[in-house]
Amino acid sequence: MVSVRMASIHESTTLKISAMAKKLAASGLDIIDMGVGEPDFDTPKHIVEAGCSSIRAGETRYAPTAGIPELRRAIADKLVRENSLPVTADDVVVTPGAKMAVFAAIQALIQEGDECALIGPSWVSYEPCVAFAGGSVAWGKVDDNFMPQNIAETINSKTRLIIVNSPSNPTGSVFNREVLEEIRDLAVDHNLAVISDEIYEMIIYDHEHISIGSMPGMEDRTVTINGFSKVYAMTGWRLGYLTGPKEPMKWVTRLLSHSVSQATTFVQRAGVAAMQGPQGEVASMVTEFRARRDMLVNGLKDLGIPCSVPGGAFYVFPNVSSLGGGDAFTDKLLKDALIAATPGSAFGPGGLDYVRLSYATSQSRIKEALQRIEKILR
Ligand SMILES: Cc1ncc(COP(=O)(O)O)c(C=O)c1O
Repeated sequence: MVSVRMASIHESTTLKISAMAKKLAASGLDIIDMGVGEPDFDTPKHIVEAGCSSIRAGETRYAPTAGIPELRRAIADKLVRENSLPVTADDVVVTPGAKMAVFAAIQALIQEGDECALIGPSWVSYEPCVAFAGGSVAWGKVDDNFMPQNIAETINSKTRLIIVNSPSNPTGSVFNREVLEEIRDLAVDHNLAVISDEIYEMIIYDHEHISIGSMPGMEDRTVTINGFSKVYAMTGWRLGYLTGPKEPMKWVTRLLSHSVSQATTFVQRAGVAAMQGPQGEVASMVTEFRARRDMLVNGLKDLGIPCSVPGGAFYVFPNVSSLGGGDAFTDKLLKDALIAATPGSAFGPGGLDYVRLSYATSQSRIKEALQRIEKILR
């Protein structure tokens, strides 16, 4: 009954773990959920209000596939101002979540037999999206700080695409200009497309975010993706966007028109308010995330668990090879410490020795988690 292509797509480990953690919590267990990729903050009130007043005003009908003009303009302004991308509103396509933007961009760029290079442990959905398109993934190596090593080794005659995700989920690593230039040079030399998934752009500490699409030689080969979920705590609203060369964007829009149609109109109105309204809550959220990161990284190091200091996003990715490896330690965390985490293996073969812990949870819960980990290590 089921197509071979569908049968090859595995379940999202992060969503599976999140469902399991919720089920255990519902059964009365005091689970500390560090498996989720979702800010624990509420969507800022002015954003919620914009969405609600749009519904009240009767904006409940179909919208243009690529998004309402006001939001496309606001996004284009942001991309010019903050990312140095020379785009106009016509170059922007709004999607129901950045995940749909990733999916659609990959379908537009990859065909049967093509390869896509992923650099080290990478977000769980890239590989399935490539598989949906009939392609496969080549995994690039990274060093102990999750910086690319010999990316050229992953490129061959079948390679069509490199995906860059900085700051990274799951490692939190941020690529500096030098690293991005190396990727740019490879893309130009081998005539490759690049998808730059910048969803954690604003959640960054002491590092500069650089959009690879703004680098010379990249304008005609880069699809830049971003969204509202993480930065504005809007995961459930489902709002993302992408911009890129005209040809792939045309097919992305066609794919949307035959599948999801468009992002919900009143959600797009909330998106306009998010982009054009006060940004103070974003700044305080990032300050809080930084304090949590420091608490968790230092706490793990004090327990003798090696952990590189992430420059962005809200995850730590400690090496637990001396504790049985990522899969076994994740099981132990859940069974013995009631902590839900994600095994590094969910992010590709380079993640086997690691576990991903999200610090999108309060400092008091992080403190409690560290105490529970100390107990199971004793
Ligand atoms: C790297 C990365 N890209 C894209 C997404 C998708 O975000 P959205 O909620 O906008 O679909 C996520 C969400 O976890 C992510 O971590």
